[in-house]
Amino acid sequence: MKNILITGGAGFIGSNFVLEILENKLDYKVIVLDSLTYAGNLESLKSVENSPQFVFYKGDIGDKELVLKILKSESIEQIVHFAAESHVDRSIKNPGVFLQTNVMGTFNLLQCAKEFWKAEDYSQKRFLHVSTDEVYGSLGETGLFTEDSSYQPNSPYSASKASSDHIVRSYFHTYQFPVITTNCSNNYGPLQFPEKLIPLMIHNILEKKPLPIYGEGKNIRDWLYVRDHCRGILKVLEKGRLGETYNIGGHNEWKNIDIVNLLCSIMDKKLHRAEGESAKQITYVTDRLGHDMRYAIDASKIEKELGWTPDETFETGIEKTIQWYLDEKDWLKNVTSGDYQNYYQSMYGDKK
Ligand code: NAD
Ligand code: DAU
Repeated sequence: MKNILITGGAGFIGSNFVLEILENKLDYKVIVLDSLTYAGNLESLKSVENSPQFVFYKGDIGDKELVLKILKSESIEQIVHFAAESHVDRSIKNPGVFLQTNVMGTFNLLQCAKEFWKAEDYSQKRFLHVSTDEVYGSLGETGLFTEDSSYQPNSPYSASKASSDHIVRSYFHTYQFPVITTNCSNNYGPLQFPEKLIPLMIHNILEKKPLPIYGEGKNIRDWLYVRDHCRGILKVLEKGRLGETYNIGGHNEWKNIDIVNLLCSIMDKKLHRAEGESAKQITYVTDRLGHDMRYAIDASKIEKELGWTPDETFETGIEKTIQWYLDEKDWLKNVTSGDYQNYYQSMYGDKK
């Protein structure tokens, strides 16, 4: 059994990754390090908290002493690094913490692992850096991001992720440190904090609140079910080539307004509301600053080289996602208590 450190394992994708490993009884002992910001929630890991294959540490990836202590005491052989500040809108309002966590935090993790792992043993070691397609900037009406697309990050969030990708890359080039980077498109699925488009809309449809569409709603994102992303990361971890980057995406482009209309229509049926009732709540609001127009991933490298393709269609994935939020109303209630109302007010103000 390999001892694997998962940073950010209480967040959206990290918790799904932990569950994917433990529910499928894969051969890993999972050690999670998470500082439990507003986006991290131990309730997401409740079903595995008593597993002998699971250990949780609350702490900051920037804390050198703590990271070194965990690496040593848990004999960590592989690291999958999810921990980050991840929401573009927050990065526009408050970029500093994005640089602190995403850039300096990643640097600290790399440095600690390099200090702990001996160069002669690198063959069994892995540092998998989980990154985003947003580092490539914005596409026009045609074209796809490939691993060779140039970096053109446009938001403080994507700039901080791009910086971390570069630092990770430099550790391979300079020290032959065993890194691999993945750049994925927009994820959706269970356990996502309701500030990103899909869970925010599900939450607001449930609550009969306004559904805020930025600008004209014509921006395009390429959506992937979160567990498909997790299975892609596992493939890369097990079979990916060191020093490489792999794009992960679902060939599933949608305009924002079309997604919101789809959610409204599915939820009207599930909630026994009149057809068209929820869509009446759609409200066009001031556009996001520097809003990227279109993201779309060419995933042919991971498909051809590692044999990964998504299991879910958008139809099956969105159905599972909506049903999960309907079944887990307590989770939604808990994560939207506390500071959520202040956040919501500061983002959407009295327009909502
Ligand atoms: P998230 O915001 O849901 O979770 C982030 C987690 O990291 C939280 O549990 C939080 O408590 C933890 N964290 C934050 N700062 C920390 C720190 N300093 N020390 C320790 N833990 C800290 O994010 P997510 O959507 O699950 O994204 C995970 C990773 O995947 C990020 O690196 C993100 O850039 C990347 N990514 C996300 C998407 C997406 O669509 N959500 C797509 C591609 C890549
Ligand atoms: O592409 C991968 C990235 O996807 C990840 O790296 C990020 O961590 C993740 O947050 C996501 O970034 P986006 O900015 O694309 O996701 P978000 O859900 O915030 O927005 C999706 C689209 O919906 C975007 O065009 C903005 C729009 N939007 C979003 C919100 C929250 C709205 O129109 N209204 C909203 O209220």
